[in-house]
Amino acid sequence: MRTKMVAGNWKMNKTLQEGVELAAQLKNDVKNPKCAVVIGTPFIHLATVAELVKGSPIKVAAENCADKDKGAYTGEVSAAMVASTGAEYCILGHSERRAYYHEDYEILKNKVELALANGLKVIFCIGEVKEERLENKQNEVVKAQLEGSVFHLTAEQWANITLAYEPVWAIGTGLTATPEQAQEIHAFIRGLVAEKYGKQAADDTTILYGGSCNEKNAAELFACPDIDGGLIGGASLVPEKFEAIIAAR
Ligand code: PGA
Repeated sequence: MRTKMVAGNWKMNKTLQEGVELAAQLKNDVKNPKCAVVIGTPFIHLATVAELVKGSPIKVAAENCADKDKGAYTGEVSAAMVASTGAEYCILGHSERRAYYHEDYEILKNKVELALANGLKVIFCIGEVKEERLENKQNEVVKAQLEGSVFHLTAEQWANITLAYEPVWAIGTGLTATPEQAQEIHAFIRGLVAEKYGKQAADDTTILYGGSCNEKNAAELFACPDIDGGLIGGASLVPEKFEAIIAAR
């Protein structure tokens, strides 16, 4: 049985003090979740938040890591540094990183390899932009994203990959994919994983939905057979909303 999960992505929000306060509230409230719970925080928060939630069901993710091992890369944060904070996950391939920081397939491939080599689990994001959806190209887009950055991994490495399908037109826009749209492409993605790694691995792969997933639409999305949970942006910043989404899973 694959892991069900609700993961937060704080993006570039919350000062250290505000982030600690949010994490403390989640730790206090989320005692017996029926799914895995992960919070993705800025690098600055990782060590403090990881220490804070230690022993609770909440795990911590970085939102990025460098595509280089170590050395003269001013301002970068390596996968080894992320792992040394106590964070267990790393979100990679988010559409904002692809669009604003020009992270291409090759860069993401390096990041994924470094994250895995340093013992991190990867939440790998894929998804099409609006024009691609309008041209009905979403399937070929997600296939190319998987082939470009993660389908070279060994079966053993694949076991540490969680996928997040996030249609870019739904992120932060209030436009959610309908459960039918999301289920259709999640099933397609699982099919691609089955072709590559076999049916068992595909059945074991957690595929999250992200993009304006909130406390109102989460239950309907999570009821779809191939939607194993959510990657939550805006609503993960509000404890009541994030907790309601966890409860819906
Ligand atoms: P959103 O963001 O929930 O604010 O749409 C999701 C994401 O970008 O991971």
